[in-house]
Amino acid sequence: MVLSIKMKRDIEEIKKIVIEEIKKLTDSKNLEALKIKYLGRKGELTEVLRSLKDLSLEERREIGPLAQKLKKELEKLFTEKLKTLPTARQVKAIDITKPARKLETGHLHPLTKIEEEIRQIFLSLNFSVVEGPEMEDEYHNFDALNIPKDHPARDAWDTFWLKPENQKLLLRTHTSPMQIRYMEAHEPPFQIIVPGRVFRFEATDASHETNFSQMEGLMVGEDISLANFKFIIEKFLKKLFGEKTDFEFRPSYYPFVEPGVDVYMKWNNRWLEVAGSGMVHPEVFRSVGYDPYKWQGFAFGFGINRLAMIKYKIPDIRLFYNGDLRFIKQF
Ligand code: PHE
Repeated sequence: MVLSIKMKRDIEEIKKIVIEEIKKLTDSKNLEALKIKYLGRKGELTEVLRSLKDLSLEERREIGPLAQKLKKELEKLFTEKLKTLPTARQVKAIDITKPARKLETGHLHPLTKIEEEIRQIFLSLNFSVVEGPEMEDEYHNFDALNIPKDHPARDAWDTFWLKPENQKLLLRTHTSPMQIRYMEAHEPPFQIIVPGRVFRFEATDASHETNFSQMEGLMVGEDISLANFKFIIEKFLKKLFGEKTDFEFRPSYYPFVEPGVDVYMKWNNRWLEVAGSGMVHPEVFRSVGYDPYKWQGFAFGFGINRLAMIKYKIPDIRLFYNGDLRFIKQF
């Protein structure tokens, strides 16, 4: 009789203690130890169950189910608790004092970046931004720009002709055909820029690529002069490169301007041509139906890659499209 009372008290005691202890646990190792302490081969509850055999049948009928019930309860408690605890490996892996791993995010290509900056500068100078097709016809890329077939100046633009050849389609060799397309559809006065890809069928080197980007500019109005042109170019270059920028205007020749001007800047310790430009040739105005006695204008075509090479100190134009991530990741 005395034994059964003690066992009943033990069962209640064990229940209370284990519930308390389980609450405090923070890792699975100590949970396992607690489980062994009560449910293991020599565990306290196991001892209780084992000593049931010393009781009378009547006592066993009373105490037995109580002990079994507690055993089931505790097993359930342990299993539930284990689910909430981190495993030993997780505990080791999470060190909240470590600096977080840097997430890699994409970013803009250097050409996209500088093109966006150039757009903003010209928008601030009251120019509009328009775009045109990369596949052109011979008329817009050459003839309308006063470069007739068999004119030796065509040699300046080695061309990717598209098949079938009798259709006279090509990949535009410059953005100048958009001068024609824009004037065909609009009346002056206006001022626009046209950024875009152009293609040349020629050998590559550190400053030449078969595929690069240009930015055409065209301003047409009454009394537009070379002085207006020089003012805009100087404003643009100083906004893009800073007030102390070094640049030069040199006389040049293009069939669609008169006079023709090249813009040079310093790159890699030498002068590099960054733009062709000049006053729009009267023949160009005639080909779009403008009266050349009424309208004047200037046009320019900057090499965007070359501007980027100067701004970001890039030693070779071929780096832009060769896909080397070590290059791209620097921007
Ligand atoms: N389209 C010329 C080139 O690609 C540059 C240019 C543009 C020259 C506008 C004059 C006027 O070489």
